[in-house]
Amino acid sequence: MAIQRPKGTQDLLPGIIEQWQYLEETIRSVCREYGYEEIRTPMFEATELFQRGVGQTTDIVKKEMYTFQDKGDRSMTLRPELTASVCRAYVEDKLYGQPQPVKLYYIGPMFRYERPQSGRFRQFHQFGVEVLGADQPIVDAEVISLVWNLYKRLGLSGLEVHVNSVGCPVCRASHREQLQEFLISRKKDLCNDCQERFDRNPLRILDCKNPSCQEVTVGAPTTRDTLCEDCSTHFEKVLAILGRAGVVYRVNPRLVRGLDYYTKTAFEVMVEEIGAQSAICGGGRYDKLVEEIGGPATPGIGFAMGIERVLAALQVQNKLPEEKPKQFAMLIALGEKAQIEGFALLTALRSKGIPVGMDLLGRSLKNQLKSANRQGASLAFILGEEELDRNVLVIRDLTSGEQMEVPLNDAVEEIFMKYQRGV
Ligand code: HAM
Repeated sequence: MAIQRPKGTQDLLPGIIEQWQYLEETIRSVCREYGYEEIRTPMFEATELFQRGVGQTTDIVKKEMYTFQDKGDRSMTLRPELTASVCRAYVEDKLYGQPQPVKLYYIGPMFRYERPQSGRFRQFHQFGVEVLGADQPIVDAEVISLVWNLYKRLGLSGLEVHVNSVGCPVCRASHREQLQEFLISRKKDLCNDCQERFDRNPLRILDCKNPSCQEVTVGAPTTRDTLCEDCSTHFEKVLAILGRAGVVYRVNPRLVRGLDYYTKTAFEVMVEEIGAQSAICGGGRYDKLVEEIGGPATPGIGFAMGIERVLAALQVQNKLPEEKPKQFAMLIALGEKAQIEGFALLTALRSKGIPVGMDLLGRSLKNQLKSANRQGASLAFILGEEELDRNVLVIRDLTSGEQMEVPLNDAVEEIFMKYQRGV
């Protein structure tokens, strides 16, 4: 039996890959405008990085990591997300010694052993940014506005930007207490996962999707009710800056992210049209993470968006460009001598940056012309024994059918001019 790709992974083939390239190029230009620089970290890291960074009690660390022992008997994990890795690089590569804040972005594959379904993969791709070394509310607003403006640039609509503050370790402790007090009498009505969360991480009960848990938590104290003064002032400032910058958001006091490192601002962007996996972006502030993994106390904030989900939204909203890359011209060389001469001509044209191709299967003139048309080429160059004897090249316009002859010696210049004029 033929070997198949692993469940939850995809082959990105020509025809689709152009959409990825378009999205990646748009992302890169928005990042340039906002002054973010790219970082690339390893595909795998020491398992401990994610255990300490993402948190022992999270679904990611408990159930979803691709962890293996390498041949030196070290525990390694394929990266399930990149925030912890970027913080590790910030410490290890001493980025804290550079002018602050450090503004980084990344695009690349992540790995989580999840139940594959529409919009949820085991190898998926994220675009994310991380800003390290700045604790001001304006940074939170910049990061959220980058997401907003990227989506606007892409032409997406119907987005819901949910914002919340999950507080700091001080106010979170009192929230946790109040929440447990509120829930204790109805603990038995919670789903199994939430009963387990009750002691470990009761905040997560607030964003459980299970209807009975949602019912139990109606009227429960939210993080916003219990924010300390510092967290509350920070949050109000973020909202004021966002509002003035034209970002349309909704404060969602139930928004609790699934990773343990968040402090203060947390946010998510949803597009309902793409189905159950509607979160296309999630992020927030993590002011304790760098310290947690052994670095100097450094505030941080960032987000990551699922490239597959953004592409799905662009697809549903018909916002993907349709262009398929085309060859400008196809060379039709008939006979061995013409092939050798023609190949030299192609090489000269390609080195001038002109996309040109030739038949590689030894087909007849008729079939080569057909294939040139199918590939959407504008021109065909015809070179046979007879043309070689006369030292000319036939240039046929495949749209009008018109033909002209040019001396072989002038062919590169002549074709280059046509290419610049767009024929
Ligand atoms: P996350 O919420 O786990 O956050 O993931 C961010 C986004 O990645 C999700 O909103 C979703 O679009 C996409 N995503 C996650 N899992 C999958 C999957 N299995 N298949 C397809 N797409 C998926 C983080 O990863 C944090 N590191 C974000 C962050 C950066 N926070 C601060 N800085």
